[in-house]
Amino acid sequence: MVPINLLRGRTAANYAHTGHWSKKAIAEAQRYCDVNICTDSSDNKYTDIADFKDWHINEKGAFLHYTPNETIAGLEFDYIPETEQPLVADMSSTILSREIDVSKYGVIYAGAQKNIGIAGLTIVIVREDLVGNVAAHQPILFDYATQINNDSMYNTPSTYPWYVAGRVFEWLKEQGGLSVMAKINEHKAKTLYAAIDGSDFYSNPVVERYRSWMNVPFLLANEDLNGLFLEQAAERDLITLKGHRSVGGMRASIYNAMPQKGIDTLVGFMQDFEKENG
Ligand SMILES: Cc1ncc(COP(=O)(O)O)c(C=O)c1O
Repeated sequence: MVPINLLRGRTAANYAHTGHWSKKAIAEAQRYCDVNICTDSSDNKYTDIADFKDWHINEKGAFLHYTPNETIAGLEFDYIPETEQPLVADMSSTILSREIDVSKYGVIYAGAQKNIGIAGLTIVIVREDLVGNVAAHQPILFDYATQINNDSMYNTPSTYPWYVAGRVFEWLKEQGGLSVMAKINEHKAKTLYAAIDGSDFYSNPVVERYRSWMNVPFLLANEDLNGLFLEQAAERDLITLKGHRSVGGMRASIYNAMPQKGIDTLVGFMQDFEKENG
């Protein structure tokens, strides 16, 4: 829907390729326009992000799309690209992990199933001046204006995920809001990365400043132990730790719903496992 709504008669757009999800966004955009891949982290296996000054921006691009947190490799921007073009961000796996300056963005979109609630809805935040220029011959539903003019109820929305999202927002306020969540999340991530870095048995290849707060992939020095690690972790109720098949190893996704206690339990298990098998 981003190219359909944001090209506004132009024929090109800029896309940063920093992982699996930006690659998928690129494949979609290529159906509608010339995609200029302005930076490409596949060269470093998604472990690093180039400084913005080294990106190759097509000045004729209608917008610049990037993925602030790449969920699979655990690669997260620590800066916001500074561009005159409308900035579009797939925030699916980072939204609500901390405060964001919405004014920097043309479009923010995020699937619900990480920090918002349960799968079944997507939140889109669009700058008002970008609405109302949808390409011709597109489904009415794909026009952001349709959603805005109908309070997101042009069709019957998925009511239960919407209800759950509301409850999550209330819960977030009770916690003290996103500035408080940020502190909790930063501490959670730091605890886990410190355990990984403090051992020769576990490793994470991502350049330190670009390490994700939400998704922490890590490898065991001996990959033959992956199965045993997962089995014994499950015995301590530490589940869904298997890494994405494209990366292998483990991945701890530590969204807002995961408390510090869960991290401490995981770190305790990792240390015990290393003692027995390292
Ligand atoms: C950053 C990011 N973008 C997009 C998606 C795709 O979400 P969906 O499966 O709801 O389309 C995911 C899912 O994990 C994601 O992490």
